[in-house]
Amino acid sequence: MKILVVGGGGREHAIIKKLKENPQVAEITCLPGNAGIARDARCVPVKATDIDGIVSYVRQNPVDFAVVAPDDPLALGCVDRLHALGVKCFGPEAAAARIEASKVFAKDLMKKYGIPTAAYEVFDDADKALAYVKTCPIPVVVKADGLALGKGVVIAFTRDEAEAAVKSAMIDGAFGASGSRIVVEEFLEGPEVSVLAFTDGHVVKPMVSSMDHKRVGDGDVGPNTGGMGTIAPNPCYTPEVAERCMKEIFLPTIQAMNAEGCPFKGCLYFGLMVTKDGPKVIEYNCRFGDPETQVVLPLLKSDLLTVMLAVENETLADTPVEFSDGAACCVMLASGGYPGKYEKGKAIDLGSAEAMAQVYHSGTALDEDDNLITAGGRVLGISCTADDLPTAIEKAYAAADQVKWDGMILRRDIGQRALGILKKEKN
Ligand code: AMP
Ligand code: GLY
Repeated sequence: MKILVVGGGGREHAIIKKLKENPQVAEITCLPGNAGIARDARCVPVKATDIDGIVSYVRQNPVDFAVVAPDDPLALGCVDRLHALGVKCFGPEAAAARIEASKVFAKDLMKKYGIPTAAYEVFDDADKALAYVKTCPIPVVVKADGLALGKGVVIAFTRDEAEAAVKSAMIDGAFGASGSRIVVEEFLEGPEVSVLAFTDGHVVKPMVSSMDHKRVGDGDVGPNTGGMGTIAPNPCYTPEVAERCMKEIFLPTIQAMNAEGCPFKGCLYFGLMVTKDGPKVIEYNCRFGDPETQVVLPLLKSDLLTVMLAVENETLADTPVEFSDGAACCVMLASGGYPGKYEKGKAIDLGSAEAMAQVYHSGTALDEDDNLITAGGRVLGISCTADDLPTAIEKAYAAADQVKWDGMILRRDIGQRALGILKKEKN
């Protein structure tokens, strides 16, 4: 089979490596990919947001199956366009991708169908929003409606911070058009859990749970990032929580999307908070998480292509989705300065990391002499599986310590919170 993967980060690298385990996969093309993905697939420099470019590429180079991985092309209707060409795809059409692309759509859906989430108000008028945050309970969370690279959320612990967040989104246009409408919502407390789930619009098959580490600094300090590391499984996702999530969140969400006339097919990402009142939805994503995918897919025992085809063909009920009992840890290596300003083009020394771990490339390129260089904020994800979490963490850091470049940063505490929870459970 000839397969197309749209995207070019660590998530796509993990998807491609897993797809390649199926002997039926003859060729994978990635648009645009990156220097690491180029070792596993043919990369063609068409941007993931260039939907016309993707469609014209597929017209000239037919494929049997396409996987559209990032949020932007999904929201822009890439899958709709490929479907119109008769190409089978993994990923939701644009109407279903709104579950991530518009926070207002997601919040209104949850309210209408009784899916547990933080209480909220929507504003498209800055004065009304400013008046509201003068009186609402604090802390409060201010979110841009549209896609904002995970940076459109401000947790305001004071009224001044809340006002500044509203002004920044609605008056200064910090997130462009994405912030002209905002959601102001109740601050929830509790551990966070990421659950990625396969769904074909009929059944939901959750993958192994995971925990992201979003802040840039050890101990969860500093600004939010795209994610500095992940572990799986997440110890807060107990069988009791899982059962409640299936009944109160996962199935109701699928049914709600069907009832709204936009069935969701693909990977639905549930960003959950386990509050004292039970699990609640913090956010939906219409795609695999990054870097959650880099710990979840290495633990998938079932064949990924078979599962993805079953999602598209709506036969997921008959298709097993099984995970190994082990654990995984992914440590992200990032450019100094990330998530703020950072320099690109630094020479990367991988040492023997590739012999010790899966090295997923997020932001890498080759210079004119074919040397590997940095080309993004998040650069590499170093991922290891093991029978238990402590060993997976130890292996991932041993491999991460092999890698060097000028200014490289990483968090040293990926998985430590999970280990603390596991220890407490034991005592
Ligand atoms: P989001 O982009 O919606 O996932 O938000 C980014 C991060 O902000 C989440 O991972 C949470 O840590 C935090 N967050 C978002 N919404 C809330 C909320 N209502 N209460 C507390 N924390 C939140
Ligand atoms: N790691 C969070 C996300 O993919 O949105």
